[in-house]
Amino acid sequence: MIYIDPSKQWFHLYCETFSYVLYNADGTLLNLYWGAPLAHTAEEAARCDLSYLLGSFPSGSSFELENRPFEVPAVGTGWFGDPAVRAVNEAGDDLTQLTFESAAIVPGKPALPGLPSVSAENEQAETLELTLRDALTGLQAVLSYSITAGTLERHMVLTNNDTAPLTLTHMASASAPVPFKTGTKGNSSGAVSFAGEGLDVIHLRGAWARERRPVRTPVGLSSYKVESQRGASGHEENPFIALAAPTATETSGEVWAMNLVYSGSFAAEAQVKDAPFAYLSIGLNPMTHRWQLAPGESFVTPEAVLIYSAEGLGGMSHLYHKLYRNYLGHSPWRFRERPVLINNWEATYFNLSEEKILAIAGEAKKLGVELMVMDDGWFGNRFDDHRALGDWVENREKLPNGLKGLAEKVNALGMMFGLWFEPEMISPDSDLYRAHPDWCLHVNGRRRTEGRNQLILDVSRKDVQDFMIAMMKRVLSSANIQYVKWDMNRNMTEAFSSVLPAAQKMETQHRYMLGLYRVLQEVTDAFPEVLFESCSGGGGRFDAGMLYYMPQTWTSDDTDAVERLKIQYGTSYVYPASAMGAHISIVPNHQVGRVTPMKTRGEVALGGNFGLELDPAQLSEEDKKEATALIARAKTVRSLTANGRFDRLISPFVSNYCAWQFSDDDRVLLLFAQVLAQPNYIPQRVYLTGLDPAALYEDEDGRLYSGAALMQAGLPMEFARGDYQSRTILLTKRKD
Ligand code: GLA
Repeated sequence: MIYIDPSKQWFHLYCETFSYVLYNADGTLLNLYWGAPLAHTAEEAARCDLSYLLGSFPSGSSFELENRPFEVPAVGTGWFGDPAVRAVNEAGDDLTQLTFESAAIVPGKPALPGLPSVSAENEQAETLELTLRDALTGLQAVLSYSITAGTLERHMVLTNNDTAPLTLTHMASASAPVPFKTGTKGNSSGAVSFAGEGLDVIHLRGAWARERRPVRTPVGLSSYKVESQRGASGHEENPFIALAAPTATETSGEVWAMNLVYSGSFAAEAQVKDAPFAYLSIGLNPMTHRWQLAPGESFVTPEAVLIYSAEGLGGMSHLYHKLYRNYLGHSPWRFRERPVLINNWEATYFNLSEEKILAIAGEAKKLGVELMVMDDGWFGNRFDDHRALGDWVENREKLPNGLKGLAEKVNALGMMFGLWFEPEMISPDSDLYRAHPDWCLHVNGRRRTEGRNQLILDVSRKDVQDFMIAMMKRVLSSANIQYVKWDMNRNMTEAFSSVLPAAQKMETQHRYMLGLYRVLQEVTDAFPEVLFESCSGGGGRFDAGMLYYMPQTWTSDDTDAVERLKIQYGTSYVYPASAMGAHISIVPNHQVGRVTPMKTRGEVALGGNFGLELDPAQLSEEDKKEATALIARAKTVRSLTANGRFDRLISPFVSNYCAWQFSDDDRVLLLFAQVLAQPNYIPQRVYLTGLDPAALYEDEDGRLYSGAALMQAGLPMEFARGDYQSRTILLTKRKD
């Protein structure tokens, strides 16, 4: 809910999980509060005048101005850090003095033009729009705030209302102060001494095959930045940053988080100054994005999702999961049970054929698999990764009956058929490149740096976008293709469009993303029944922007069960299990060479969209039996894992164990895993969470437990002998 006080001096956004209070101090918009709810009704909000808090911020000398809690810190306001908005004007200076002009409440939650955003289609949403203006340059900033599901969505529209062009160099999606609450409060030396221990910063750090490992460290005394300059959200960092009380746990303590609904280069920062707050921001990376704002034109920033949790990191994750499951994107598959799939990549690599695909499908069908996905290698001259990206025509040598013939045969087995694409890419050795050598990102006179032997199409160009749309429509209409894996296997180097004028070259990366989003919108709209899964060398573009168009993502190329404990655990900080692809692969594992039991591989994979990444013919009879049971279990629990609440119980990053839990009103699924076996092991207990203490829960052997006992007394973790063991326990809540 949104309250605007009659004098338009303060604005209070509030709901059951947070309050966010803005204050118009003589034209400067300040953020007085972001934290636990201060009001639940309009009457309470009206009474909640927080202007007294101005007393904690200096307003006198210009040296102290930077310690004011600006909602939009900018150059020329007294702020000396990285700005949220910076526009260089024709006079050559970058002063951006935005003064409050007006406030309005808009019913609903308008979509962001050309960009993915959270939709409030099912909610009684409202949006607060605050208009600020720089009188001298004519730059107008409309700040937009919506409350969707206990979450705050924020973006900004920057418009040039004058006759001279402006160059935007900074255009953050969100920026807000987070209070230091521990230690000495103050604005001078006291701040410096407490700031270091005052808040922890949390982000998701990774690399190819080991994505999204949570990092938690004191925010320190200066700036803490996480970013991508790769033209993709990337394997190294996720567009997510949080500040937390040092005492915050999975279930308690304060957390302030920001996540960007965007798939390209980004920057997120926590800036610590001599002030009683740390400054948190997220948005496009100023290093890689610049925008010429011509007179009359507008620039829309991507959307940021802000979460305040008083219930620790678990509370934060519950809110992100609920939001992204229910309010992101339009695919009807968001709410459908996802098919158990098998993918031939690790079974055949490029050496595929109709015969091999049908053999894999036939065996997989016997195990209970529902969808056969043919991966890389089905098109053009694609016998290895040196060629053919762009030549999206089936290779008749490998597929004598074409895609249509193969799809029909797979369908005849009673399975769906799916296909891999990498539409944003072009191999120098391809018919497409020979026809259009200028279609890739490049700079004339410079090397065209290859990654995995490929270049990237200049998706900022309309003709390239049109080619991609037509190609996808042609192939998807040519056969009964019910699933698409949309891959993207390298990052940008010479990230410039040859068709943009010099003054706009730095717009390429964002125009690429806008172009890609246009392509994805058109293709997914044209084939609403197709289930789309995004991928980028595994989880190199695992973000809410991609999830808007494609409701699931291939979490990582690393399918080793032990590594997956960490990868899925870390990913769950922000993204729900319904977004994560999780497959059983063969042992020794292709990424790390580890041999783990089939049961453990499968039980870890139950924590996402379940599938297989192997040739079933290579499985022993015993493993086939185990795989059949695991697939049956995946079907039994998939509605729970996709829609239930997810809780992290034991972290694999700090212990030899891992435990997580899914729960809804009817059932609980618990995973325990132990990495290395121990001699003389004394079963430890794992403590469940979020259950009904008075209810009885029944396991699959008919044993009854009270919710209170499961939470307070716990369950002993017993394992079979040997390394890499796991167990899952499925409990049903008794209704009688
Ligand atoms: C990427 C994906 C893999 C596979 C290969 C194919 O690495 O992450 O799953 O599709 O490309 O080239």
